[in-house]
Amino acid sequence: MKIFLDTANRELIKKWLPTGLIDGITTNPSHLSKEGSDVKQVISDICAMVPGPISVEVVEKTPEAVYAQAKHITTFGEQVVVKIPCASQYFPVIHKLVQEGVSINVTLVFTPLQALMVAKLGVMLISPFVGRWDDIGVDGFTLLEETVNIKNLYDFDAEILAASVRSPLQWQKIAQLGVDAVTVPPAVFEQAINHPLTEKGMAIFDADWNKLGVNGSL
Ligand code: E4P
Repeated sequence: MKIFLDTANRELIKKWLPTGLIDGITTNPSHLSKEGSDVKQVISDICAMVPGPISVEVVEKTPEAVYAQAKHITTFGEQVVVKIPCASQYFPVIHKLVQEGVSINVTLVFTPLQALMVAKLGVMLISPFVGRWDDIGVDGFTLLEETVNIKNLYDFDAEILAASVRSPLQWQKIAQLGVDAVTVPPAVFEQAINHPLTEKGMAIFDADWNKLGVNGSL
């Protein structure tokens, strides 16, 4: 399973990149809005740090402007993937961009059928938002499961990138579905990689070892 960090925060990316677990980054306008007004610098810095796919979302509205902005976004770096919302007016744009070889991540996907439709366009990534379903009392996990089943039935090339993940437990359930990738906020990543019993176990081993009085040598 590929693991992406769902953030535009350079310090947090720098913090977790050395773990060797981070395959890519997903930014969005909300994430970027927290990093100051020099958005180009933020994206360039992330591109310099992370070799894997970095999703950058269009913020224009008309299909023509979205197309032009998508082309511009690709100039930030070879690994940049253009994020476009799953809205019908953008399907012709996505179709054209895919034919031109642009890597697309279709975002704000909320149903298995939306996923099936964008898969037919040959996009690189499809991002179903699990947590936002849960936020309004609908079982996002089941919808993701149905999406994965459809992907397996039709064997489409697009990768499912489970998004809007709220907790390590939700991530663990998602992992059991066999999705291609997940994007998690740094806080969820940190919660998942550590465990209080690991910390406690290390402290016990330390205390016992120190009783030997050999100063850490073996
Ligand atoms: C995905 O690419 C999005 O950036 C993200 O997962 C949005 O999730 P949210 O519901 O936490 O805003």
